Amino acid sequence: GLKKKEVNVLCLGLDNSGKTTIINQLKPSNAQAQDIVPTIGFSIEKFKTSRDSLSFTVFDMSGQGRYRNLWEHYYKEGQAIIFVIDSSDKLRMVVAKEELDTLFSHPDIKHRRIPILFFANKMDLKEALSSVKVSQLLCLENIKDKPWHICASNAIKGEGLQEGVDWLQDQIR
Ligand code: GTP
Ligand code: MG
Repeated sequence: GLKKKEVNVLCLGLDNSGKTTIINQLKPSNAQAQDIVPTIGFSIEKFKTSRDSLSFTVFDMSGQGRYRNLWEHYYKEGQAIIFVIDSSDKLRMVVAKEELDTLFSHPDIKHRRIPILFFANKMDLKEALSSVKVSQLLCLENIKDKPWHICASNAIKGEGLQEGVDWLQDQIR
């Protein structure tokens, strides 16, 4: 068949936010891992988007503090960003915002119209903030030079993920 357009996607966000769980859910069921463990360094995952137009190469980065300095090495190659937030982690919302601000001020990201999809993940937890609240706390309305979108998600059940990926595909084509 036709060769699909290949797109490098960076998956960023704090440790324990659910990045690997999200990427795992987006893979075909026969390729999904049963057990998800904290990512060491990073992991490269490939899958085709369901509307079948794109072939995603996802850089699933570790969110642990000691590995966050790896993120920037992949910014140049990234053509889209998925930024995952644990909506129930109110204490670390400010840390997530700091990492986001650092991302946006990086020379390899700063002046690019790179699309950013936010997942306000773990919406199933009763203490989870709404996606509106998360976007307020992260000051997403201040993002003027990049297309962005936020979706509430439950990565364990796969809820909210497809809506986000559909949006991302539309930004890329
Ligand atoms: P690092 O690789 O350390 O950066 O973490 P990560 O962002 O990849 O998180 P990971 O996918 O490993 O998930 C961390 C924990 O959160 C796991 O125990 C997941 O099962 C859990 N988790 C992920 N998504 C959800 C969700 O939507 N709801 C709930 N309740 N738990 C979730
Ligand atoms: Mg991970």
